Amino acid sequence: MTTIEKENFDLTNVLTRRYATKKFDSSRKLDDATYRQLENSLLLSASSFGLQPWKFVFVTDPEIKAQLPAFSWGQNQPQDCSHLVVICRISELNEEHIDRYIQKIASTRGVTLESLESYSGMMKGFLKSPSDKIHWMEKQCYIALGTLLTAAAALGVDACPMEGFDAKAYDQILGLSEKGCHSVVVCPLGYRAEDDHYAKLAKVRFDAEDIVIKI
Ligand SMILES: Cc1cc2nc3c(=O)[nH]c(=O)nc-3n(C[C@H](O)[C@H](O)[C@H](O)COP(=O)(O)O)c2cc1C
Repeated sequence: MTTIEKENFDLTNVLTRRYATKKFDSSRKLDDATYRQLENSLLLSASSFGLQPWKFVFVTDPEIKAQLPAFSWGQNQPQDCSHLVVICRISELNEEHIDRYIQKIASTRGVTLESLESYSGMMKGFLKSPSDKIHWMEKQCYIALGTLLTAAAALGVDACPMEGFDAKAYDQILGLSEKGCHSVVVCPLGYRAEDDHYAKLAKVRFDAEDIVIKI
């Protein structure tokens, strides 16, 4: 698809309907087609250099979900949602990861490894810089979160971005170290409970004149 149908899509309305869902209807589950689109939205997210230093862990096992409110500042969304997405950074951003990415570019675009040497060298140079690689990976994870929130809103799926959780406990319960990753931010997905009064609250946003600078 090269063009987007604009006629029937009111972006402002879609984004206004989105809210940080406090109470999910635990009886409603995402269907498979919707799940796939949301999974794809994460895979299609932008990342710096395209390096995708992340893993996306989808939790649906009720027994595991039931353990999570105790490690989520008492919040129940991780248990009551349909699918809990744990957005993780990979444990280590190393040259092997960059080589794997370069191989993927070569096979996807049908170009030679030699033609990618300078790009590879630039990324490896960046890796050696003293900047905090963990912080950099976490920033990429937040870009994926933003993409997921917008995709969910477009599909009429409710979500709650959540930093209110104990990352070490999540890592342990979900066995994330063994999977080569660490939790950064989580996002329960599903459908709002009818009596979630937060859905009816007006959005609190500063005025455009306060926020937007036009030069
Ligand atoms: C990174 C991030 C972390 C958040 N953590 C939580 C959280 O742990 N629990 C929660 O109920 N809301 C959480 N929120 C939701 C915000 O409080 C909410 O987005 C904000 O108040 C604006 O409201 P709205 O999203 O409903 O428009 C988080 C939002 C973001 C972006």
